Amino acid sequence: MLEHDVLVIGAGLAGMRAAIAARSGGADTAIISKVHPVRSHSNAAQGGINAALTDRGDEWEEHAYDTVKGSDFLGDQDAIEVMCKSAGQALIDMEHMGVTFNRDDEGRLGTRAFGGQRRARTFFVGDFTGQALLHVMFEQLVKSGIRSYEEWFVTSIIEEDGQVCGVTALEIRTGQVHVIRAKALIFCTGGVGRAFEPSTNALIVTGDGQALAYNSGARLMDMEMVQYHPTTLAGSGVLISEAARGEGAYLLDKNGERFMEAYAPNMMELASRDVVSRSEQTEILNGNGVDGCVYLDCRHLGADLIMEKLSQIREIGIDLAGVDMIRDPIPIRPGMHYMMGGIKTDVDGLTNVPGIYAAGECACVSVHGGNRLGANSLLDTIVFGQRAGDHAAAATRSKEFVNLSEDGVRKKEENRIQQMLDRPNNNDRVGSIRLGMGESLNRNLAVYRNQSGMEETIYDLRQLKERYAHVPVDNKGSVFNTDLVFALELGFMLDCAETITSSALERKDSRGAQARTDYPDRDDENWMKHIVVNKGEEGPELSYLPVSITQWTPEERKY
Ligand code: FUM
Repeated sequence: MLEHDVLVIGAGLAGMRAAIAARSGGADTAIISKVHPVRSHSNAAQGGINAALTDRGDEWEEHAYDTVKGSDFLGDQDAIEVMCKSAGQALIDMEHMGVTFNRDDEGRLGTRAFGGQRRARTFFVGDFTGQALLHVMFEQLVKSGIRSYEEWFVTSIIEEDGQVCGVTALEIRTGQVHVIRAKALIFCTGGVGRAFEPSTNALIVTGDGQALAYNSGARLMDMEMVQYHPTTLAGSGVLISEAARGEGAYLLDKNGERFMEAYAPNMMELASRDVVSRSEQTEILNGNGVDGCVYLDCRHLGADLIMEKLSQIREIGIDLAGVDMIRDPIPIRPGMHYMMGGIKTDVDGLTNVPGIYAAGECACVSVHGGNRLGANSLLDTIVFGQRAGDHAAAATRSKEFVNLSEDGVRKKEENRIQQMLDRPNNNDRVGSIRLGMGESLNRNLAVYRNQSGMEETIYDLRQLKERYAHVPVDNKGSVFNTDLVFALELGFMLDCAETITSSALERKDSRGAQARTDYPDRDDENWMKHIVVNKGEEGPELSYLPVSITQWTPEERKY
């Protein structure tokens, strides 16, 4: 039987960092991913990674305060302290591994400004920082000799006598189902962006880890907090990095006015993301946009700067919108980008289910609270990936493998999958259910929300789940059956969508990314708390956890 002390699920930055740490801690470690590691969605992080370096006159406490304020005071301050204190070393470690960060005129690591931060503390590689980090981390993974199951899709968590003891996985190339025994699982599977349509997220971002953990009893937290990024391209919804505004780009309405003056006179285009997205949406709703968009204007930055630091987004603009940002403003609008919520963990990645850890976007530590600062996600993946790997290695040292019947487990999963493949054609399609879910979420759980819209989505999701139970899988084959993979992913997304909508409906205030037109104010007296979701008999069951406050008293947020 395949077996490892620690099995990391997902091979983006958090996953690879966790695996390398677990291996260094002496654990027999493997990593499993439905795509090749360098195709993971961390690739898409563009603008940079935050760290406060003291030799630049910056302090981790300042970074932490900006993060707490950015979170609209919903982030857990003890966890934020851990992240911001670790950031400098994490950055230097990446540089020493070989990341070729941009340099300033004196040859030191260069920074750019990013939203919601009073100092320029975002370190970057052009406008493809995630890709640069991911490739370097992959080199380290290869060097460490960690076994990598590439294009293997985890379909279930195995439990025996109430103990988590491994996973079943579909080898996508052959269609074979495998059983992998493990003492600890670390989920690093990313967000659930593709439950929304459109989204900046890659098609692989389907909430697999959140749904698997939730269905095994893990708690999810802050699921209502969905980040709409202020600059996603008209039409396709592809990300146009905040790096553009960090370098000085303007946001303009249909008359060419910089409308952020009215909403955030101090920080203007570099207010926090929730604030900028709301401002744009308000302008669009008030008829000051053009075709549902406003403009991002980079012309004054000049061709040299754009070619040196923003070349990728320039190409995206040309290829996908036919606009060259050197010459013309680009039409953009707020678009679904990131999940602040996820599997509830402590700062070592531990969940409430022994043997299940989580890190990266699929986890909720919660360092982002109601709204994540740009460039804190790459940091989160590296800091908490490493901590989860360290902890899992230590915890599995004296632990035995649980006995399980490999044949029994495999046959059960093969039967479940075969039943999906055997469903008769009823003219329904996975793609149609997926689109129905994505459009409903994007209509009612976007920048502005209200009760009746969210109730409509709850209703939609119930109907879609009923259809999902009978939806046929067109391809009956075994080799690279992506139809089957899409069908399995859709089940994961529907589970996550239900937890997002239930949590958002429950929270009766406006805070961070949740802006309710029917409850427009932040209500600290009643809602300064996390919403936690457990899987119950009838669907999501909600409860609350307090917010950890260490040194920053909640105050009104102004930028
Ligand atoms: O705009 C961006 O470059 C995105 C960065 C992030 O989400 O951290």
